[in-house]
Amino acid sequence: MTHDELERALAELPFRLLRGLGRAIAGPPALRMGKRRLIHTIVAGAEANSARIEATFRTHQAEQGALAAGPAPAGGASSEHKSGNPADLRALLEGIGVPEPRPFVPDDWQVEAVEALERGDVIVSVPTGSGKTYVAVEATRRAMYEDRTVVYTSPLKALSNTKYTEFCKLFGPEFVGIITGDRRDNPTAPILIMTTEILRNLLYDAAGGEIDVRLDTLGLVIIDESQFLADPERGVVWEETIIFCPSQARLLLLSASIGNPHELAAWLTCIRPTPCHLVRHQHRSVPLRAAYLHPNGKLTPLFRTVTMPPSPSQAVLHPEAKRLFTLFEEDTVYARRSG
Ligand SMILES: Nc1ncnc2c1ncn2[C@@H]1O[C@H](COP(=O)(O)OP(=O)(O)OP(=O)(O)O)[C@@H](O)[C@H]1O
Ligand SMILES: [Mg+2]
Repeated sequence: MTHDELERALAELPFRLLRGLGRAIAGPPALRMGKRRLIHTIVAGAEANSARIEATFRTHQAEQGALAAGPAPAGGASSEHKSGNPADLRALLEGIGVPEPRPFVPDDWQVEAVEALERGDVIVSVPTGSGKTYVAVEATRRAMYEDRTVVYTSPLKALSNTKYTEFCKLFGPEFVGIITGDRRDNPTAPILIMTTEILRNLLYDAAGGEIDVRLDTLGLVIIDESQFLADPERGVVWEETIIFCPSQARLLLLSASIGNPHELAAWLTCIRPTPCHLVRHQHRSVPLRAAYLHPNGKLTPLFRTVTMPPSPSQAVLHPEAKRLFTLFEEDTVYARRSG
């Protein structure tokens, strides 16, 4: 067998066998090697270890034969299969689904935010999926009731389109308009959805005396994804929008990821006519579940689940995820180098 043929044959071996062989040839350092380095190490020591290498190929052939002969009896699965314990995956995915319908009751922070808008500007800084839309919709409803116009801005055209559809359903299409780089529908409606750049440009025009839309009756400006204020390139648009926002309008800033909301609230209080109230909490109503999807389609929990026995080394990663990362470590390093 030439070195090239050996390399190709080794690449076909399960990582478990490859690592065992690598360890027999190079000792404990092999345990820290990725697949590519293991193969190089084995090929480099092939002449002196031909018997070991042949034995490993025989083991692999025997395992393949056993697999082809039918499923292993219960408890007899290979260690590779054992480590992807399906019970862990069940624990990871448990509870996902459509919850039982129940009456909608706003959370305390949602009520607090809507009420605080009566007195001044509001920043809502709560995790993703907490229900910031409710605050925006309820505040819009109140502004409409007082015959004030509302502008809802988002950083993306796609998000603006989604909000437009959502608000049309809630308030009726005759009351909702959209202005983005691509669309301009019903631009004199009392509720206008637009990208933040468009609002900034409207405010520029208004500053020059050319009022395009109903900014004179503007009662509420909702700035979704307001963490963009910190964006090195686009942040200035958010900053100018806030600075030029008419004094009679209330500002509602929504975000799941502002690092320094207190500082932002203090700044708004400083530059705006009314004090800014901060509504903040970190409770996730939808917990995050981290998993790793292997290219072979196998889903593995990324972190150890509570149902697993405690790890003596206090490891955080799931052993199967760790095994897969080790397997691809070298490829990642190579890809980074060549990239
Ligand atoms: N008080 C509540 N009780 C139960 N469900 C709620 C409550 N408020 C909102 N929801 C539901 O939570 C889900 C997420 O809400 P929403 O889209 O407003 O989150 P968000 O905070 O805007 O998230 P994102 O950061 O992803 O924009 C929606 O299905 C919404 O109906
Ligand atoms: Mg949202």
